[in-house]
Amino acid sequence: MSKKIHIFDTTLRDGEQVPGAKLNKRQKIEIAQQLANLRVDVIEAGFPCSSPGDLDAVREISRQVEGPVIAALARAVKEDIDIAWQAVREAKRPRIHVFLGSSDIHIQKKLRSDRDKALEMAVGAVKYAKSLCDEIEFSTEDGSRTDFEFLCRIIDETIKAGACVINVPDTVGYALPEEFGSLIAKLRQSVPSLDRVLLSVHCHNDLGLAVANSMAAIRNGADQVECTINGIGERAGNASLEEIVMVLKTRSENYQAQTSIDTREIYRTSRMVSRIMNIPVQPNKAIVGSNAFSHSSGIHQDGVLKDRTTYEIMKPEELGIKQQTIVLTARSGRAALRHRLQELGFTLEAQIFERVYNRFIDVADRKKEINALDLQSIVEIEVSKVPETYKMHSIQIMSGNKMVPLASVTLERDGQLYTDAATGNGPVDAVFKGIERITGVPGKLRDYDLKAVTMGTDALGEAMVRVEMGDDIYSGIGSSPDVIEASARAYLNACNRYFANGGATGIQNPGDINC
Ligand code: KIV
Ligand code: ZN
Repeated sequence: MSKKIHIFDTTLRDGEQVPGAKLNKRQKIEIAQQLANLRVDVIEAGFPCSSPGDLDAVREISRQVEGPVIAALARAVKEDIDIAWQAVREAKRPRIHVFLGSSDIHIQKKLRSDRDKALEMAVGAVKYAKSLCDEIEFSTEDGSRTDFEFLCRIIDETIKAGACVINVPDTVGYALPEEFGSLIAKLRQSVPSLDRVLLSVHCHNDLGLAVANSMAAIRNGADQVECTINGIGERAGNASLEEIVMVLKTRSENYQAQTSIDTREIYRTSRMVSRIMNIPVQPNKAIVGSNAFSHSSGIHQDGVLKDRTTYEIMKPEELGIKQQTIVLTARSGRAALRHRLQELGFTLEAQIFERVYNRFIDVADRKKEINALDLQSIVEIEVSKVPETYKMHSIQIMSGNKMVPLASVTLERDGQLYTDAATGNGPVDAVFKGIERITGVPGKLRDYDLKAVTMGTDALGEAMVRVEMGDDIYSGIGSSPDVIEASARAYLNACNRYFANGGATGIQNPGDINC
């Protein structure tokens, strides 16, 4: 009989710990809603004691998002547990997730304590959390490096104290698959009370083994896996949700286990998380990378044309990757665009549809054919736009191998046009400096990524930036058939996020004003 593996998604908590990936409330709700469409079993929505903003976002997710259990993380202290409970108490199915370091390294070096005191602290915290909430998960942080006897003891005692999910993390990504699998099997044999609760694992990817370790754990008795979309997370990240789910689906006979995930939502969720968090997906990433289903060698192409199963073990459609048969052109009207968007699963409010249409016409004028991936990029960028303090009007670039690149930039603000020019190390640098001169906000570029959305020299370029402005890092995304314009749009998007977040507008440009 096939066993159900519970998928605990921690994109909004462990994933959000990636530097620069901090989300606002609206963005967290948007992702949580999509995780519910994906049918994850648990959404770990945040670590509410980390900031009032996170408390607010987790509370709103608890109110609005139905289906999955909504969990909030708390250290094993009363204040954290109280705040976590405030955040999830309005959820239909709330869970408080309490954690405490259980390895000697963590107990002695981090907590400056000893095993007995740590045990007492864990039991006290679980009992207290249980007095507030029915569903308590307890995590033995650094579980894979914890003394086995002590691990059994802390697990058994926290189950007696009321935990109904026990999570054993490989916090530092140190474990090997055989080792981690046998740890789970030994725990099952040595702690009979584990049969009354769900046994969970949480693997990090420092040695690139997070998914392999999670799979070994499933084979040896784990009921729940904790993972993130695109494998994002602390340092090298967490186990990737889409990889675990597709291993279980594609090789189900080897695991006798399945999940409730609607795999047709995987690609959309991956794109959404990458776009909102501004963390590009590497092209060769398993399952969701842009090359995951593209065949470049002649022999492979020949095989796939004869029969897809020669070189494909999964169907792109299973992941919700749409076929690119229909293309639109600048002559396609609103009705054709609306029809195609509906086919791709986008139903847009009238106002957003108009923005998408205008952008579509602008891009289609310059790029002959607009296919599904182009449209997806245009829609995703328009849907996620923050209020635009400054709008892109036009840019002009002069660049060459024997000249200093020069950019002239015109932005629109409150109906007025502002123009300024700047030189730079390259055309992108020049255009960013031009924008900076107009907005008056100095920015330090922390990250810049540019990729082609589709194949061919006329492909739509998609740029992602992360810019330090004031005390924070703001991300931005932009697309255009012209890569300099895509970069400028991304930079401007980051500036507008800064303004939407209350950032000061800066000194007005002393340059030309064309009314
Ligand atoms: O990696 C880890 O140990 C964690 C715990 C808080 C579950 O993220
Ligand atoms: Zn973690």
